[in-house]
Amino acid sequence: METLKFLTREQIDTIKQNYVLPVYVYSEKILKEKARDCLNFPHAFGLTVRYAMKANSNVNILKLFDKMWIHIDASSSFEVYRAMENANIDPKKIQLTTQEIRYELWPLMKLGIHYNATSIYQLEEYGKKYPNTNLSIRINPGKWSWWTKRTSTWWVTSSFWIRYEYVDQVHEIVKKYSLVIEKIHIHIGSGSDPKVWKEIAQQSLSFVEQFPDVTTVNLGGGFKVARMQDEKATDLQDIGAEVKTAFQQFFEKTGRKLHLEIEPGSYLVANAGAIVGCIEDIVDTGNQWNHFIKADIGMPDILRPTLYGAQHPIIVVNDQTATQEYVVVGPCCESWDILTPAPGNSEEICPRLLNKAEIADILVVEWTGAYCASMSARNYNSYPVIAEILVREDWSLVTIRNAEQLSDIWKNEISVI
Ligand SMILES: Cc1ncc(COP(=O)(O)O)c(C=O)c1O
Repeated sequence: METLKFLTREQIDTIKQNYVLPVYVYSEKILKEKARDCLNFPHAFGLTVRYAMKANSNVNILKLFDKMWIHIDASSSFEVYRAMENANIDPKKIQLTTQEIRYELWPLMKLGIHYNATSIYQLEEYGKKYPNTNLSIRINPGKWSWWTKRTSTWWVTSSFWIRYEYVDQVHEIVKKYSLVIEKIHIHIGSGSDPKVWKEIAQQSLSFVEQFPDVTTVNLGGGFKVARMQDEKATDLQDIGAEVKTAFQQFFEKTGRKLHLEIEPGSYLVANAGAIVGCIEDIVDTGNQWNHFIKADIGMPDILRPTLYGAQHPIIVVNDQTATQEYVVVGPCCESWDILTPAPGNSEEICPRLLNKAEIADILVVEWTGAYCASMSARNYNSYPVIAEILVREDWSLVTIRNAEQLSDIWKNEISVI
C-alpha cells in the first residue's frame, strides 16, 4: 500500500484548516532536485535543458526553473506569450514546437524565439517570412515507444513531425529561402522505453550527417517517471552516458562537436506534486461487487486516469489499521471519472487496497505535478479550478494560485435571451 511521500500529516491538517479542498500541492525541494538531475545529464560538448512547459505552466514553476538556467520548450504561441509576459522569461531561451502557425506566431520570431518546424508547410511558411535565418526541424525517425498509444508519437499515428523520407523536400526549401538548419529535434513521446530512447539518440546522428550546419541535437523529453511502487524511472545517468559516447564518436568521425538539448516535462515536475482532497461519499454495489470511494478529486483536476488509464498512488489519510479494496471515482456525473482504472487496460476499473475509509477522510492523489493542473476537464460540471500551493524548502506553505470563483466560470458569457 502507498504511503504519503512528501507531505506530512501536520501539513495536511494545515491545508485542511486553511483551504477549500481539493488543492494541488507542489514541493519546491523536489522540483529543485529534479532540475539538478536534468542539469547533470551527461554530455560531451555542452548541454541545454529545456522545460516542456505544457506539463505545468504555473508562473512559479517557470520562474524557479528559469533561475536554474533551464530554458523552455513551448507548445503554442500562447505558451510563448505566457512564459514571456507572466514569467518574464527571455525570448531567446524559448523554443517553439507547435502544431499550428497562427497569426500571433510570426511577430514572436523577431524577439529571438527559436522556431522548430514540425511540417513541410511550416518550414515553407517560415522560409517565406524569415529567409536567411536559422531554425530547427522536428524529424520522425520511424521508430517509437509507448506505454499507451495516447501519448505515443508513433510515426504513422502521429502528425507531429517531418517524416525522415521527406528530407529531400527539406533541403529544397532550405535552399530556396537560404535557411540554416542548426538543430535536429526528435521527441518520441512520453514514458518511452529507455532502450528505444537510446537507439533513437544514436539514429538522430545519422540525420545530422545530412545537415552540415547542424550544431545542436535536441533529443526531447519522454523520460519514464515512477509513479507507482512497481514502476522504474529512467536513469538519466545511464541513458546520458551512451548519448555522450555517441556524440564523442560522431566527433571523431566527422570533426563536429554537437551541443545536446533535452526537454523533459514529466521528469521535472511529475514527482513534485500531489492533490489533497476529501472523501465525499462511500457506496457499494452489494457484497460481491465493488466498494466505491467518491472523492472530490476527479476529471476537473486530474484527467490522466480517464484519458490514458494512468496510475497514481492514492492514500486515505487516517489512523486506520484495517484495509479495504475500493474503486475510487471523481465527483463528475460521468461514468469514466475514475482514479483507479485497471493497470494496462483503461477500459476497466480496478479496486485498490487502501486504509478503510470513512466519509470526510482526507484523500491524497500523488505524483500529480505533470499534466494535471495544466491538462484537466476544466469547469466540467461547473467545478471551479482549484487552488495551487507550494511547500517551500523551509516547509512553509504558500498559495501560488487562488481557487477560481464560481462566477469566473460564466464571466465571459453574454446573456442574449
Ligand atoms: C515536443 C515535446 N517535447 C517535450 C515533451 C515532454 O515530454 P515528457 O513530459 O514526457 O517529458 C513533449 C510531450 O509530449 C513534447 O511534445
